[in-house]
Amino acid sequence: MRTLSGLWIDRSARPTLQDQLARQIRERIRNGDLAPGDPLPSTRDLASELKLSRNTAVYAYERLISEGYLESASRAGIFVSRAITMPRDSKRAATWKKNAPRSAAPVLQPHLTAPRPFRPCQPDVGLFPLLTWNRMRGRALRREGRNILHYQASCVAGLPALRENVATYLHDHRGVRCDWRQVVITSGSQQALFLLAMLLLKPREGVYVEDPGYVEARLAWRNAGARIVPGRVDAQGLPLPTPESGRISLIYTTPSRQFPTGVSLSLPRRLALIDFAAQNRSWIIEDDYDSELRYGAAPLPSLQSLDASGRLIYTGTFSKLLFPSLRLGYVVVPDALLDRFVELKHLSDDHLPLLDQATLALFLESGAFYSHIRRCRREYAERHALFLELFARTDLPLTFEHTDGGMNVVGYLPEGSDDAAWSRRLQEAGFDVPALSHYAIEPMRPGLVFGFTAFAADQLRVEFKRIRPILERAAKERA
Ligand SMILES: Cc1ncc(COP(=O)(O)O)c(C=O)c1O
Repeated sequence: MRTLSGLWIDRSARPTLQDQLARQIRERIRNGDLAPGDPLPSTRDLASELKLSRNTAVYAYERLISEGYLESASRAGIFVSRAITMPRDSKRAATWKKNAPRSAAPVLQPHLTAPRPFRPCQPDVGLFPLLTWNRMRGRALRREGRNILHYQASCVAGLPALRENVATYLHDHRGVRCDWRQVVITSGSQQALFLLAMLLLKPREGVYVEDPGYVEARLAWRNAGARIVPGRVDAQGLPLPTPESGRISLIYTTPSRQFPTGVSLSLPRRLALIDFAAQNRSWIIEDDYDSELRYGAAPLPSLQSLDASGRLIYTGTFSKLLFPSLRLGYVVVPDALLDRFVELKHLSDDHLPLLDQATLALFLESGAFYSHIRRCRREYAERHALFLELFARTDLPLTFEHTDGGMNVVGYLPEGSDDAAWSRRLQEAGFDVPALSHYAIEPMRPGLVFGFTAFAADQLRVEFKRIRPILERAAKERA
């Protein structure tokens, strides 16, 4: 199949697909990327490469033939017209590439990719019951009719049915105490963190964060101009801020399973943190991103379930239990902040897609959500055990700690190792294993963060065979 590499099609752009195609081929001829006499792909090949209808390709070619850029030789196909002379000008060609729309994906490469092994925090989307989901989607459409396609001013905080179902789930499974009206549906937990940063932080205000910790949260605090105060995570989780920390307006923590180390915040620390927030009038954001995935024991109750001060903001996400591109998460907002939070949410996106929210509401209500969690927990527990077992059979210098669940495990390297160099080396071999230092603010014990949940047992075995010699070589060179 003949192709024409690097063409872009932007389905959201105003020019028709036919116009986009004709314009790009014309530009290439003008730039000298295509020379007189060069053959072009058949309309069938072009249409199949670009996922266009064949007619679109036919019309684009016909237009260029009528303009004199192309000619058709009845059996041999379509060629750049031999009657034109265009300078080969590499500078102009480079400009064309630079000006290609940034939002569009290069059509001849796969647009969307799956995570490479052993990328942390990735669910196995192959386990997701798409058929059930689509059934629920159909049911939601039938139930709501076309009204679900309108703007709905009453849904800025989320579809009420979904908020109610989330509140029930949080109450029953995470011990969260709230009225459903406090549940606001957000575009992943990231939007909740971003909006909370806008709402709660003024420049130079102190935000106390886990070190190592979730980078995207830190970026939200930084964006608000906050002063980031790192708290070194130890075997009990995040310690209390010290007097040297200065005034702390906000504490961000992942208490159920600290990201990325996997440590659970101990009960004394939980109580002390809540007390600190009450005494100092600080807010706590509890990011409960993967607490359901505790293997061999029931999930720990949330920090929010212990709080009586009203200073705790609880966020969660469906990215890990369902699938990340759904972009639905939630935040339980204390009454004192609720109206202002919803106003900000309104400015940010009015409301999130109602059809997805209605589908998710039914998915929760029908129990399909709970069956899916059970299935994931079972599968991931097996993968977790297998992953650790594979490494345990080697004498690689990696020590795994805090391994009671989650989506990731940290393999600690010997003191003095350059974990970023190990990670780069793995990346060159096609792996995606971030260094612990990537998540760190201050220098710390080196390690590598492995995710295992997105990879079925067979794939884990195959990838382990591939990664092992690379790790062994890295270890030998270090020794
Ligand atoms: C600690 C933590 N919080 C939250 C999230 C989820 O973000 P979102 O809901 O925006 O997909 C992640 C994802 O990796 C995470 O690691």
